[in-house]
Formats: sequence, structure tokens, C-alpha cells
Amino acid sequence: MGKPRVFVSREIFSDAIEMIQAEADTELWQDELPPPRDILLEKVKGVDGLLCLLTDKVDAELMDTAGSQLKVISQIAVGYDNIDVASATKRGIPIGNTPEVLTQTTADATWALLMAAARRIGEGERAVRSGKWRTWHPLHYLGQDVYGSKLGIVGLGRIGLEVAKRGFGFDMEVMYSDIVRREDLEAQYPLRYVDMDTLLRESDFVSLHAVLDESTYHLIDEEALAKMKPTAVLVNASRGPVVDRKALYQALRDGGIAAAGLDVTEPEPIPMDDPLLTLENCVIVPHIGSASVATRREMSRIAAQNLINGLKGERLLTCVNPEVYNG
Ligand code: DGY
Repeated sequence: MGKPRVFVSREIFSDAIEMIQAEADTELWQDELPPPRDILLEKVKGVDGLLCLLTDKVDAELMDTAGSQLKVISQIAVGYDNIDVASATKRGIPIGNTPEVLTQTTADATWALLMAAARRIGEGERAVRSGKWRTWHPLHYLGQDVYGSKLGIVGLGRIGLEVAKRGFGFDMEVMYSDIVRREDLEAQYPLRYVDMDTLLRESDFVSLHAVLDESTYHLIDEEALAKMKPTAVLVNASRGPVVDRKALYQALRDGGIAAAGLDVTEPEPIPMDDPLLTLENCVIVPHIGSASVATRREMSRIAAQNLINGLKGERLLTCVNPEVYNG
């Protein structure tokens, strides 16, 4: 019997590719950009496994086009809102993702954004590079204090908790809002469970860590932004569509809130004519929350191992839909 066939939709660490090649006949998409939809559909025809990214739409059409031999979908990310989980589960296909390994790295990045937005780091750097730094001035580049302020975490999952823990080091009062109250965590850390209204009204920093689904789409809209303090800073390291970007633009432009730090946008990449790019008080980076060498290497390894396990009919290291194993 020949080796199983797999499609890997982007370059990952080479040692992870070698792991896959040892087990499977591997086609690797080497372009920097994602395969266009028609090509992706063409490439998955007849494969036994797919290693995909959050930029690939993995829906029922793709699974049907791949064929009934498709045994595993391995995503190199913790989030998987690009994948139709119900359709995969219906077909008995396990989906792998890469949780845990990126938690600390993403929490660090969230804090980098929080600090950059609070202390106008992006704006200051642009000023230096463009020759606008003419003197030290008592009233120039005044930002918001982080130390001793109030941090509101929306979504106290793994990353949200690590962001909160970093806040304790800054003597912050930390509150959180989530669909599930985490009394187990409240017993360990000084966390206050509040409703979303209270969080928005009281927080100096609002950090978003909710998964993207129908209930969180544009969770931060005009109404939510209107509840925030004019001195507040919004940080989004979850998914772009959790924030209504037009409402955010207006709030930032009109002084509704002080600043924002975005690791994610809607859409990605952000179009160059998006008005958010005209604002000095909006720090935007290209979805780099998990982008450290060690973390991306480990994400590559886990995604490769999940793919291989799935091909062999073995349980994935990290599976989004473990109910496929119950049947
Ligand atoms: C994820 O893993 O979901 C991030 O958005 C990328 O690391």
C-alpha cells in the first residue's frame, strides 16, 4: 500500500515538514499567500489529510471535494473559526489545533499592544523617524497610566487568564466577563466577575479574548464603545470581527476612547484605504500574537503530529471535536 496523500497549505518549520514527508506523500503550497479557493479545492481532491491555516476556509464543500477518504484536518492555530466543525464531525473527521503552546506568547503580545497603545509608542516612533521630534515638551505624547489601573478581560480562557496575571504585576484591579463564571480561578486569583456593561464602564483597559462566533460578532459595536471611558484603551488579540471597525474608527476619531491596539482586523490584511490607518491612536500589527520562533516551531510540530496521528487513525494530541471518537 502506498503512502497516504496530504496537502499542507503553507510553509511551516522544515523539521515539521520532514516529519510529515516521512509518513505521507506531501504536497506543500510554497507561496507566501494562501492558495486561492479554486486551487485549494483542486489540491485537496483525493487527499487523506489536510494541514491548514486560519486563512483557509475549510467548509462542507471542501470536505466533499476532498472525498470520503479524508481522515484528518490539522489546523496550525488555536482558533478554528475558519473550519466548519459540525460538517467535519458529521463526517467523522477529527480536527486538530494548537492550544496551550501559544498561550504565553500571545499574552505577551497582547501586553505589548496594550502598552504601545497606552503610551503612544507607535505614534512616537513614527514621529522620530519622520523628523517630527524637535524637543522634550511637558505636554507632548501624553498617554494613559497602566500601573494601578483597571483591566477588563473579555473571555477568561487560557490567554485571557495569562493577560490578567500580567496585570497583577502592574498592580491592576482585574475584572472579567465571560459566558461561564470561573469560580475556580477566582479562588486562586483576585479576579472580579462582572457583566459586560460593568466591564466596559469601569475598565481603563479592555482586552478581548473571546472566540469568534455568532454571539461575539461585532460584540464591540457603537453601543459598547459608547459605554467605555474616554480615557480607555481597547486591545484586540482575538479575531477582527469581534470589533465593528467602523464604530471603532468613529470612537477613536471623536475621543470616545483614547486608543486601540489591534493584532487582528476585519478583513485581514486590513485594506490600505481603511480609515483606521489614518489614526495616530490606533496601533495595528499583522496578526502576530503567536509569532515567536519557539512557539511557531512548536505549533508546527504539534500540527504535523496531529496530521500524522489522524492519518494513522490514532487520537490527535489536541482535538477540537473529540466526539468523533465516540462513534
Ligand atoms: C491562533 O492560533 O488562533 C492565532 O490567531 C494565531 O496563532
